[in-house]
Amino acid sequence: MNTKILISAIIVLITSMTSCDHTVDYQEIYYFTMNGNELQRPTDYRKWIFVGSPTTPNDMNNGKAAFPEFHNVYIDPLSYKEWKATGKWREGTILVKELVSVGAKSAASGNGYFMGDFIGLEATVKSKKYFPSEPGNWAYFSFTTPKGNDLKNSTKAFGKSDCNSCHAANAQDDFVFTQHYPVLRAAMGIGEDIVPENSDARKSTSKIDIWAPTAPTPKGFNMGIPLEKDALFAYLKSGDYKSFKNQENDKHPSQGPHTKVGLPVKVFMTDMIASSLAANREQHDKGAGIVKEMFNEKGELAGWAVMVKTQEDSEAGLGWFWYEVTSTTDSDAIAAIGNGVQGCISCHNIGARDFVRTTFPLNP
Ligand code: HEC
Ligand code: HEC
Repeated sequence: MNTKILISAIIVLITSMTSCDHTVDYQEIYYFTMNGNELQRPTDYRKWIFVGSPTTPNDMNNGKAAFPEFHNVYIDPLSYKEWKATGKWREGTILVKELVSVGAKSAASGNGYFMGDFIGLEATVKSKKYFPSEPGNWAYFSFTTPKGNDLKNSTKAFGKSDCNSCHAANAQDDFVFTQHYPVLRAAMGIGEDIVPENSDARKSTSKIDIWAPTAPTPKGFNMGIPLEKDALFAYLKSGDYKSFKNQENDKHPSQGPHTKVGLPVKVFMTDMIASSLAANREQHDKGAGIVKEMFNEKGELAGWAVMVKTQEDSEAGLGWFWYEVTSTTDSDAIAAIGNGVQGCISCHNIGARDFVRTTFPLNP
């Protein structure tokens, strides 16, 4: 039996549903087409909603990831609309997963994983009508051929144990891995007319605070600059760091967000870090420290940023203590304090020598 749902039928349904209650009306509009027991390959998914791009590179999976490598995931627009309205997957939901290889591993922006070629296409469909006996009524398909860049035009569903059972066991929301799709988390049940990008839901999708420390700061560590919150603030207020021999003669416009790009900053370095930079060493010594004064529009001192190395090995930034305060009177006006602050690290990774970004020598 050929059960194609035609575009014209969709248009008729859409026009007839405008005044009715949404949850019922678009139930029967499918963005997929069954050809007997085979799913026809959707060809218009680039017009759907892009929900995320999980990446399982081969070189992090013993040379052969189970699902190579970039997974670009799209959902059909009406199911997304229903997800926004109700936080549930409607009858007829389809998600498509386009597989793309890792191409380059470095680019002008840095090292990383950059998309290579198309290597496959998979899909999952929720339908009681077509898959009454699949768990959750979700069925799983692959249009991928051994040649990778060719695709099948239609395909049968996999058996439960091939796909469905892993999704059932590990996916967050009714077989869909929303834990890996911020676009879907931000939209879940927020209401059909709400723009997720303007809603509080967007903020709450991330459980990760990039300004929180991710490694312990050694207790009582003090190789010149104290790291404990109140002691550090008192040290900065005292201006002791102004006696460092290695300091900028003048303020310079900040190239980073301290506190805003373009506002004046002034850098003071301990001898330890200055000699390490002068020797062009890969890693600076434990105890090396930098204080950066940050000024406001009027040229008044408005806070400090501090970096101190608390161990010999930088350990991807965990071995650095990071601190930023945006007041000279309120020790609680803290942007970040502690080791391994990912928000600081993610930017101090780029074009830096062991996380130090200021150009050296300080006064060329
Ligand atoms: C061992 C666990 C596992 C198995 C088996 C599995 N998947 Fe998935 N699948 C995932 C994970 C995890 C994600 C989300 C993250 C990602 O794409 O890496 C996902 C995502 C998907 C998506 C995107 C929509 C969604 O549900 O999040 C599709 C489509 C998909 N898989 C199809 C398949 C197909 C087809 C098979 C069987 C050939 C299959 N999966 C087998 C773990 C699995
Ligand atoms: C968006 C990028 C970015 C982020 C995020 C960032 N910085 Fe910076 N930071 C810079 C740049 C660029 C410089 C050097 C250039 C300048 O100051 O003009 C710098 C300089 C510094 C310096 C002077 C020493 C050096 O490395 O050159 C300190 C100290 C500092 N940052 C601390 C921090 C702390 C602490 C955080 C987190 C609260 C942080 N930074 C977050 C970009 C960033």
